[in-house]
Amino acid sequence: MNPLAEALNEQIQAENSDVFAMLSELGKNIYFPSKGILSQSAEAKKFATRYNATIGTAMDKGVAMSLPCLMESLPDFSPNEALLYAPSSGLMPLREAWLAKIRHDNPDLRGKAISLPIVTSGLSHALSLLGDLFVNPGDVLIYSDKNWDNYELNYIVRKQAVPVFFPLFDSKGGFNVEGFRETMRSQAAQRDKLIVLLNFPNNPCGYTPTDAEGEAIANILVETAEGGCRVVAIIDDAYYGLFYGRELMHQSLFTKIAGRHHRLMAIKADAATKEVYVWGLRVGFVTVAVKSSVAPEPLYEALNAKFGGCIRSLISNCSALSQQVVLKALKSPTFYAEREANVATIRRRAMKVREVLNNSKYSDAWEPYPFNSGYFMCIRLKHVNAEALRVHMLDTYGIGTIAIGAENLRIAFSCLEEENVQELFDLLYKGAKELMNA
Ligand SMILES: Cc1ncc(COP(=O)(O)O)c(C=O)c1O
Repeated sequence: MNPLAEALNEQIQAENSDVFAMLSELGKNIYFPSKGILSQSAEAKKFATRYNATIGTAMDKGVAMSLPCLMESLPDFSPNEALLYAPSSGLMPLREAWLAKIRHDNPDLRGKAISLPIVTSGLSHALSLLGDLFVNPGDVLIYSDKNWDNYELNYIVRKQAVPVFFPLFDSKGGFNVEGFRETMRSQAAQRDKLIVLLNFPNNPCGYTPTDAEGEAIANILVETAEGGCRVVAIIDDAYYGLFYGRELMHQSLFTKIAGRHHRLMAIKADAATKEVYVWGLRVGFVTVAVKSSVAPEPLYEALNAKFGGCIRSLISNCSALSQQVVLKALKSPTFYAEREANVATIRRRAMKVREVLNNSKYSDAWEPYPFNSGYFMCIRLKHVNAEALRVHMLDTYGIGTIAIGAENLRIAFSCLEEENVQELFDLLYKGAKELMNA
């Protein structure tokens, strides 16, 4: 093992041996090359006052060489801001600004030590880094039976985790607390490490638990850790902030589990993608928290060095320009108001969908799953196959939806105009009837 990896492992073990035991083989072996080209360049950046001949960038009198035909598209950025490499863990001002945003959105984190977020190339990349660091082939991954299909590619196909699903909803249309508890209990009885992935607002159903349900979920995770099982809890906050009801949990579930137990690693995976409305810019983050008897910063730094090593080895670093653009937005005094305006627009669309679906005329064709947040809602089709209806709607009416399994159709109201909602569901109903009568 590389001595730099050994040093990080010792640092982690000295702080919390359970966290060390949660790491995958790759997680144990990976390290940030802190004595390599990057760190030598960083040192030179500070101290090479005469000539800096370290890094693979073309410079002209301290300014990144650039093409005027390119820079004319970026009038608000200097070549150095726009074109130079970012550090593997991300631009420090952006990491600090995202941390401030997490604390702003989650006031219950006050007084809790959480790590400085590292920057990833979008949330998918964040989730895949977590796979690198924590998932060994054969590890069990517990997640909801209503889930984003990329989890399977990332964790089951790439990392060879074993999927175990818990039922998202109970018979009353709430979060299935008992189903989740039972799944956790039976899996924890068989092994000493579980990886749990929770995503609210949920893709595809657009569900966020109530605050009481969130408390119950958090307590189940803590009880599992208390019972002796190590729990890596990944909270996928992709659609954070898109909430359409007062009773919902308005802070991340991460807030309820951060620092609760030394065998419970709370991980917040989030992104500017949907929260800052920058889907293609590819800016995401990973933040962790775990209970520690000593100040946890050295532990967080060691984990961040491992994340940095994963990033360095695969993509080296994330787009600096994207990071600069997101940073500017986060620093703007109008950021939160502008974000709220967009949330209000999507909330109106969600409310319209609710109003339209209240009509009992649809009930012989489908039943909507509960939804109260996010971009999507799902209907469970009673008599027709979801893929058949999807294709029929596309071919006959030019309407695109997503079929999930044999029964479920996902509708993204995030991209529907309010005035088109009624027609969309009427046509869906017509299409379903046509297939039923065919
Ligand atoms: C639940 C969930 N997690 C993560 C992501 C990934 O986001 P990103 O585009 O930042 O990779 C998505 C995107 O659709 C998602 O729906």
